Amino acid sequence: MRTPFVVGNWKLHKHVADALALVTELKNQLAAVKGVAVGVAPPFTALYPVAKRLEDSPIAVASQDCYWEEKGAFTGEVAPGMLKDVGCTWAIIGHSERRQFFGETDDTVAKKARAALAAGLGAIVCVGETLAQRDAGTTTAVVETHLGALRGLGVEVADRLVIAYEPVWAIGTGRTATPGQAQEVHAFIRGWLGKELGPAMAAAVRIQYGGSVKPDNAAELMRQPDIDGALVGGASLQAADFVAICKAARPS
Ligand code: PGA
Repeated sequence: MRTPFVVGNWKLHKHVADALALVTELKNQLAAVKGVAVGVAPPFTALYPVAKRLEDSPIAVASQDCYWEEKGAFTGEVAPGMLKDVGCTWAIIGHSERRQFFGETDDTVAKKARAALAAGLGAIVCVGETLAQRDAGTTTAVVETHLGALRGLGVEVADRLVIAYEPVWAIGTGRTATPGQAQEVHAFIRGWLGKELGPAMAAAVRIQYGGSVKPDNAAELMRQPDIDGALVGGASLQAADFVAICKAARPS
């Protein structure tokens, strides 16, 4: 019922020429792959050319962040409407690297997610615990706090709201959550959605797993009942690996 969604988060990688080379390969190699929705999140500088190159392709374009105001004296920021203007349909919000290095807070994540959705973009909202928090047994409490950004959202955004569960200790470390560990948190998130936003949201909102997803671990993760795709960092920079992960996410 939920179409799995796999998004490549390129982070701070790829100039325009390399970005175009990669999406051209993805477009060709994924053309015949059905049953999975796919997106790429290039750096801001490559969004427009990438979106142009993907105009006749179902591959969606996402930004890695967005601001909550549409215009004004906010040097360095990019508005949701500007992202739509260059062909983006999604924005990743609240990635743990933004929390860790750029002062993102629960409050800014909530503002950004609401602004993106209000502008008509889809929002991929990231949640997840650090290793210290997991070791302290506070994983679900931390995730629940992060999910607070979504309070009050209604079913009209169900198909444009995606939650990415990304345990911080699994990002870029080669250390993936086991399918069981991931499923446990995904089930908790789905339960929270049901309790706080209602059963229709719990049934429809997709929950991606992120953190060292690779071609050799994707299939088992994607088989878990509450995992609806992946947010892929390192392995999204090579067409072959990313295509293999997209194929692994197709329903069996
Ligand atoms: P990774 O990054 O796949 O390189 O661990 C995932 C992410 O940060 O979205």
